[in-house]
Amino acid sequence: MPEAAFAPAIGVDAVEPGKAVKVTIGGRDILICNSQGAFFAVENKCSHADEALECGRIRNGWISCPAHGARFDLESGEAMNPPAKDSIATFPLRVVDGMIEVAAG
Ligand code: FES
Repeated sequence: MPEAAFAPAIGVDAVEPGKAVKVTIGGRDILICNSQGAFFAVENKCSHADEALECGRIRNGWISCPAHGARFDLESGEAMNPPAKDSIATFPLRVVDGMIEVAAG
């Protein structure tokens, strides 16, 4: 199976530290998150009750779900505390000439 192609998502300057911006790539809702200058791409859907994660708090490499407070590791997508048990999807991300690109095909 061929690797998913990277597609331009958003400029690095548009995602401030501690913030997340929603983009749509390949028909998927994806959050581009900036945790202390490191960028991550995760699915914009909590694994607990499918709520959007986009207004969640971002700290030290995790995002918290605004609905019931589950936290997810931004790198691995793993759930860090209840009520979520399952991981959320994460996507490969790279920065090219100031543009964040995500492979979410
Ligand atoms: S929907 Fe995210 S913790 Fe419940």
